[in-house]
Amino acid sequence: MHAPPTEGVDASVRVPVHVGIIMDGNGRWATARHLPRAEGHRRGVEALRRCVRAARELGIRFLTVYSFSSENWSRPAAEIAELMGLLRFFIRNDLAELHASNVRVRVIGERANLSADIVSLLNEAEAMTRANSGLTLVVAFNYGGRQEIAAAAAAIAADVAAGRMKPEDVDVDAISTRLQTTDIPDPDLIIRTSGEQRLSNFLLWQSAYAEFVFLPLNWPDFDKASLCGALEEFARRERRFGGVTPCPVP
Ligand code: FPP
Repeated sequence: MHAPPTEGVDASVRVPVHVGIIMDGNGRWATARHLPRAEGHRRGVEALRRCVRAARELGIRFLTVYSFSSENWSRPAAEIAELMGLLRFFIRNDLAELHASNVRVRVIGERANLSADIVSLLNEAEAMTRANSGLTLVVAFNYGGRQEIAAAAAAIAADVAAGRMKPEDVDVDAISTRLQTTDIPDPDLIIRTSGEQRLSNFLLWQSAYAEFVFLPLNWPDFDKASLCGALEEFARRERRFGGVTPCPVP
């Protein structure tokens, strides 16, 4: 029996369709406890599991999590190996349960420089859950917003060079439809943990009108109450999408 969609948040709260999360602060969480950074990442996977469950219970339709950025390759080799291992562990260990919970798994990011076994696991996760109609969990892995936009620009350039498209047809839609997120609605809310307040190359194009909530806790401490708090903050924001607030009729 599933919990009602908005259990945990005020029933009048407007739940965002798409929430993006920058899961930051694993290293600081571990360092503060005199533990190896790897332990922070391992506890980060547990927080991710809690977060997916809470998102389902709250009726969120799309959850995108920033798991490894294009720039994370600059970390020490041992930490990169740990993060790759955790992705393998997460997919192998959690895929059956995600599937049973009607979660659809999608992966965005560059796969070309990932090892073959990881690419197979990502393909398997997407194929197995393709027909699921519940929460869509988008795992941003080896992902960078600038790289994604540059790839879309290259695809447009190729279309123009081949005569399939005219330069004057290049518009917002032409770019949006060439991003990996083409069939995913733009994020309504982006949450970043750890107190840092920046986007770090996450969903740059798609976040044009997202609301941002920065939480002062490290990712391994994130739980359903943290998510509910962010949703309540989101519900208090007035979204104008570049327009104006309608004046109340006197
Ligand atoms: C940021 O913390 C977190 C990451 C770079 C990786 C996020 C990964 C997980 C939550 C677990 C892995 C999950 C999957 C599916 C692979 P940080 O290391 O930058 O923390 P710091 O800023 O405190 O050093």
